[in-house]
Amino acid sequence: MAATLTRTALRASTSRLSNPHSTFAARQASPIFRRFLATPRGEQPRLRIGSEAPNFQAKTTNGDIDFHQWLDNKWAILFSHPADFTPVCTTELGAFAKLKDEFERRGVQMIGLSANDLSSHSSWVNDINDLSSTTLTFPIIADATRSIAWLYDMISTPDLEKLAHSGGVAFTIRSVFIIDPAKKIRLTMMYPASTGRNTAEVLRVVDALQMADGKGVATPVDWGVGEDVIVPAAVSTEEARRKFGEGNVREVRPYLRFTKV
Ligand code: BEZ
Repeated sequence: MAATLTRTALRASTSRLSNPHSTFAARQASPIFRRFLATPRGEQPRLRIGSEAPNFQAKTTNGDIDFHQWLDNKWAILFSHPADFTPVCTTELGAFAKLKDEFERRGVQMIGLSANDLSSHSSWVNDINDLSSTTLTFPIIADATRSIAWLYDMISTPDLEKLAHSGGVAFTIRSVFIIDPAKKIRLTMMYPASTGRNTAEVLRVVDALQMADGKGVATPVDWGVGEDVIVPAAVSTEEARRKFGEGNVREVRPYLRFTKV
């Protein structure tokens, strides 16, 4: 369906742009159209929990990277922005930059992406630092062609069509990915343009994932470090008592057992 819509959009735009009598508005759209052509076509990959984070090469504010090499078998969060100097995103990047020590303590590298080129990234970073009284040190990927946003399944079909016809901003380039040391995607969140992300939730999920991996447990609603955790359904209560201690498994229901780790 999406591929058909995209092909239709491409055909429509191609005929308009190759027509010498095309409207002024259509001719104005041509640079954006060329940018769209630089974006891979067809279906965007369907990234899900457990998918390998796709590799790519990119220019960033900290130099050129090969993403898999940059990951370096460490935890990472990748978050994206539709354009530089967008107000909600400005507050988000400032807040993540301020939490550098918290992410480092958990062994998590941060990397941002914005669908503009490096020249405006640098002045945006200066502004973010100024506005949030911080020093943003993690790389921001330059994705002016939106090819990485496409690779990471961030662009809605209406936005793909809008970009092809009239350019503008792809509002849905507002994802968060948590990637583990095996390069597997462990969480995806997609935020609307009007709602700022929650840094505490990203840190909380990192804590929960690291707890789950390290101790073989699950975590309940709103869990925070230090609170009781859940014995996974696959572990019997007898096994759990052997593993976590005889007096350290609280069976609320046969299927809901808590323990302390
Ligand atoms: C923002 O304020 O960050 C924003 C504005 C337009 C589209 C997406 C994000």
